[in-house]
Amino acid sequence: MDHFHIRDGQMHVEDVPLSRLAAEVGTPLYVYSRATFERHARVFREGLAGLDRPPQLAFAVKANPNLAVLGLLRREGYGADVVSGGELARALKAGMPAPDIVFSGVGKTTSELQQGLDAGIGQFNIESGEEGRELAAIAAARGQVAHCALRVNPDVDAGTHDKISTGRADTKFGVPIGHAPQLFAELSRLPGLDLRGLAVHIGSQLSELDPLEAAFAKLGDMLAKLRGAGHAITHMDLGGGLGVPYRRGETLPEPAQYGAMVARATRGWDVQLMFEPGRVIAGNAGVLLTRVIRVKRGLHNPFVIVDAAMNDLARPALYGAWHDFDAVSPTGERMLANIVGPICETGDTFATDREIDALGQDDLAVFRTAGAYGATMASSYNSRGFVAEVMVDGADYAVVAERIAPDAIADAERVPDFLR
Ligand code: LLP
Repeated sequence: MDHFHIRDGQMHVEDVPLSRLAAEVGTPLYVYSRATFERHARVFREGLAGLDRPPQLAFAVKANPNLAVLGLLRREGYGADVVSGGELARALKAGMPAPDIVFSGVGKTTSELQQGLDAGIGQFNIESGEEGRELAAIAAARGQVAHCALRVNPDVDAGTHDKISTGRADTKFGVPIGHAPQLFAELSRLPGLDLRGLAVHIGSQLSELDPLEAAFAKLGDMLAKLRGAGHAITHMDLGGGLGVPYRRGETLPEPAQYGAMVARATRGWDVQLMFEPGRVIAGNAGVLLTRVIRVKRGLHNPFVIVDAAMNDLARPALYGAWHDFDAVSPTGERMLANIVGPICETGDTFATDREIDALGQDDLAVFRTAGAYGATMASSYNSRGFVAEVMVDGADYAVVAERIAPDAIADAERVPDFLR
């Protein structure tokens, strides 16, 4: 359930008509619903209510790093899963307590490891022996102990898009699960590390629970093996990955089903479980509002040219992803169309041969399910600005990210003397 609905013939986000936002803030525009974010945060937590102890929830900042979003989730008791110094700084700025921050990522730089230690974050998910040895040395030299988990690659096929699959043995993520005993034996002896658990994340937009369950089963076996070898395992991080419906009528596993599976798979583990949900919290809490520039006659279908483009919402161009597209003021009439942005690449196509609400010049429409991996993946390609973001709260709203104009981006560029 979300708070994007038609009222008086017009789509509203909570109690704010989208036409008002378009008039006052302009388009293209990401629009988030506070109530939807909060609902998703609670539903995910409630789905895990059957676990032996309350889980530690770290929102995957990459899905939506907006400071207002992070602040909202902090109030819901979420910490943060970060993958860069920039995300770490944002999580801290949003008021996330450092102990609630997990640092993931296959390529943390030396200075990012230091930044994590400076902040006193709760856990580093180390992705290699090399990283573990480096972190240990830095921490020991500073007289610190870094809490960490070893990210293992369980070699399961998540059954999702190749570009967002991370749990097959041939991807760059984690260490092969079979290497865990040897790495634990080595790394747990290092004075700068408190190696206390395992972490896994097999991919994103998972539409089935079986691959996750298979991964967790392998993790459970490894947990027993490590304990058998005398290691104290207190934390297990089960990552994120739960998918969300992008198409009307599509059904995906609900958080409650996910929670029941997790409870089954982790029974008897006796650890603090950690989760890193991103999309399931943010995806359906946002839309991308856009205006039709004009409708151009085509050989077959008309081209509905909208003012949002692949630089604002990259998912269709990058992954062939589907986003439902709805008129803000639907008339009941329908049309068959290609939906495209103004960027000079054929790849700047949101949909081909799609049956949509009939639209004409200047009409408003939304791409749905744009709250995760939307604004954060924007670029300024074609010297377009960075898209703005708004958070709606009942009948109020606030601009939570200003539009960054092309001029402001050009202002950061310099022509050197030797080219004058
Ligand atoms: N934890 C780790 C270590 C991750 O790499 C990710 C996502 C998550 C948690 C959160 O996964 P989620 O719950 O959101 O599925 N840009 C792509 C998605 C990339 C996901 C990368 N990792 C997209 O637009 O579909």
